[in-house]
Amino acid sequence: MAFQPQLKILISRDDIAKAVDRLACEIQRDYQGKQPLLIGVLKGSFVFMADLIRQLDLPPELDFVRLSSYGSARESSGKVRVVQGVKTSIKGRDVLVVEDIVDTGTTISFLLDYLKKKKPASLKLCALADKPSRRRVPVPIDYCGFSVPDKFVVGYGLDYDERFRNLPDIYVIED
Ligand code: IMP
Ligand code: MG
Repeated sequence: MAFQPQLKILISRDDIAKAVDRLACEIQRDYQGKQPLLIGVLKGSFVFMADLIRQLDLPPELDFVRLSSYGSARESSGKVRVVQGVKTSIKGRDVLVVEDIVDTGTTISFLLDYLKKKKPASLKLCALADKPSRRRVPVPIDYCGFSVPDKFVVGYGLDYDERFRNLPDIYVIED
């Protein structure tokens, strides 16, 4: 039988909704009069991205990238690869990357370097969650929803081996 982990609620859907509202306000304030290009990192950010853009009173353009890091269910291997790159031209654009969670920072710093080479006018990062205690590569997070403890979290787009992405709240997997 598949591993049945115990899930303990960490962040409720109401608290997620409040954080998404707050982030949308901050983004809107900073991008006044601009048309940012939001780039979501698949697959984890798709639920967050869908909620965020519906709270933004801006005309955002969207694109997605998909990265792979050949790791186990809980650890990325540290070797990141772009599986699906951006389709939109980002030269001269105000780019805002939307990520689910920044853990060691390896994945997102690789992506930010990849995007920087394409010469955007500006490049910022919005992350739903940050696990600062695990950081190995420093990453500036311009808009951050939550700081989470050093635990594996699932739900609201975040998965454990492709499971639990559909849960509306965020849970910790208990060992
Ligand atoms: P990093 O490269 O170590 O920062 O790992 C980042 C990626 O690993 C994220 O984009 C997530 O897809 C995944 N990840 C890291 N921590 C968690 C977690 O607690 N739950 C679900 N996915 C996670
Ligand atoms: Mg991810």
